[in-house]
Amino acid sequence: MIAIIGGSGLCQFTGLSDVRREIVRTPYGEASAPLVFGGLASAEVVFLSRHGCNHTIAPHRINYRANIWALARAAQAQRIVAIATVGGIRADRAPGTLCLPDQIIDYTYGRDNSFGDDQPHANGVRHIDFTVPYDEPLRSALLFAAQSIGQDLIAGGVYAATQGPRLETAAEIRRLARDGADIVGMTGMPEAALAREAGLPYAAICPVVNWAAGCADSASSIDFQQISTQLDASLDRVRALITSFCEDSRYRPTD
Ligand code: HPA
Repeated sequence: MIAIIGGSGLCQFTGLSDVRREIVRTPYGEASAPLVFGGLASAEVVFLSRHGCNHTIAPHRINYRANIWALARAAQAQRIVAIATVGGIRADRAPGTLCLPDQIIDYTYGRDNSFGDDQPHANGVRHIDFTVPYDEPLRSALLFAAQSIGQDLIAGGVYAATQGPRLETAAEIRRLARDGADIVGMTGMPEAALAREAGLPYAAICPVVNWAAGCADSASSIDFQQISTQLDASLDRVRALITSFCEDSRYRPTD
């Protein structure tokens, strides 16, 4: 079972067969939306809309723990492919590109970021290794899937996770660039870390939908109409990429 977490603009994944919905309660509260089970190409998938059915949940209000618990424990998914829109910081991350980041810097705060918080571990605090935050075999599989349909997917890059819900200032983006960030989004953390805690391979496909604040076209402001137009165009490509990934079980070595 492949879990797909949809972000902005992707509240449902059209094209699933034999769809079944399930509302899941978790020890951490309610997930953002009912889980949607269905078939996609030759795979069983479970889809979750991160921002809720009607995009009502802001990035800092998302119950990331409930979402990951629902996918890992209730749905028994074996891997998570997340979709998370971003702003482009580096010159080669223009709106329209799709990125598959390999690193994260976390600038978020005040979010429940561990399953261990409420359940003190009998043997002391549990730490996870997060040196390589995204799952490499899953990333490779997604790259193969992209190649096989001639889709450009930029391999690698540093994802800066910011708190939101406001966009950044130009000075903040200059700071992120100095830190080595290539793209910026608001939902990458703690989602990736919780998936690691839950033992699920996780990778994120990041459509760039705008230049980050202060960069290129966004030198003096960010145009929301452009974001929405870009988002629609990019999401068709993301759907094609995920369908290609689901088509070939070679991309899913542990099925
Ligand atoms: N900043 C933060 N998150 C985003 C952006 C951005 O410019 N674009 C899309 N998500």
